[in-house]
Amino acid sequence: MPIRPAIIGNWKMNGSGKEVKLVSRFADFLDKHKIAADVMICPPATLIGRAGGAIKGSKLKIGAQNCHVAASGAYTGDVSASMLKDAGAKAVIVGHSERRAGYDETDKQVRQKAQAVIEQGLQSIICVGETRQQFNKGQTLQVVGRQLRGSIPSSATPQSTLIAYEPVWAIGSGRTPKPADILRTHAHLRKTLLKLHPKEGAKFKILYGGSVSAANASDILALENVNGALVGGASLSFKDFTTILRSV
Ligand code: 13P
Repeated sequence: MPIRPAIIGNWKMNGSGKEVKLVSRFADFLDKHKIAADVMICPPATLIGRAGGAIKGSKLKIGAQNCHVAASGAYTGDVSASMLKDAGAKAVIVGHSERRAGYDETDKQVRQKAQAVIEQGLQSIICVGETRQQFNKGQTLQVVGRQLRGSIPSSATPQSTLIAYEPVWAIGSGRTPKPADILRTHAHLRKTLLKLHPKEGAKFKILYGGSVSAANASDILALENVNGALVGGASLSFKDFTTILRSV
């Protein structure tokens, strides 16, 4: 059975009330066009409720970008997986490199967050990726293999968990790895998943992220073991994101 791809937009810290309309336009587009992919937008937490309300009944899903490990408590400014679920999120991105780098998130914390997400019945989207320096030193496979093993909970299943490979140096830079490099890294992630989950390792979706655009999406999505994309900047543009969706 071929894996159904997933195209997920990560809006990062962008978007206010008026961008809810863009989410509605994506939902209308999905309802009018046959797109052979699961599609999700992860807006800032402040918009999850409004965006979900605006697209009720649509094929488009709404996700979140981060959560706290705990379910509730004295954690000023944080939001738990159960709160995100309550707001309408169907998935949570965990371990994005912007959080690993900016908040010193460790593999262990990422794994605990993914576990908290899965326990709520939501999907966890676990991000891994090497820095420019690690890439230059030829350490990509070693780094992403270690991150994946350390970040994926043992209870993860292909239904509950997606993996996103995002080279840190490709994010927001307009640069992407060569197709052969993406192929090699995704093959390594697949091999690692098969070692961790001999029965179901072949079924996990492995997304590519980092400067995915309307121009390069079809080439990237055609690569073996690339089961979708995690899209940053281009998911804030109706034209760019729908062109990516059409290229699935
Ligand atoms: P860009 O597509 O803007 O490079 O961002 C990628 C990303 O970090 C998605 O999570």
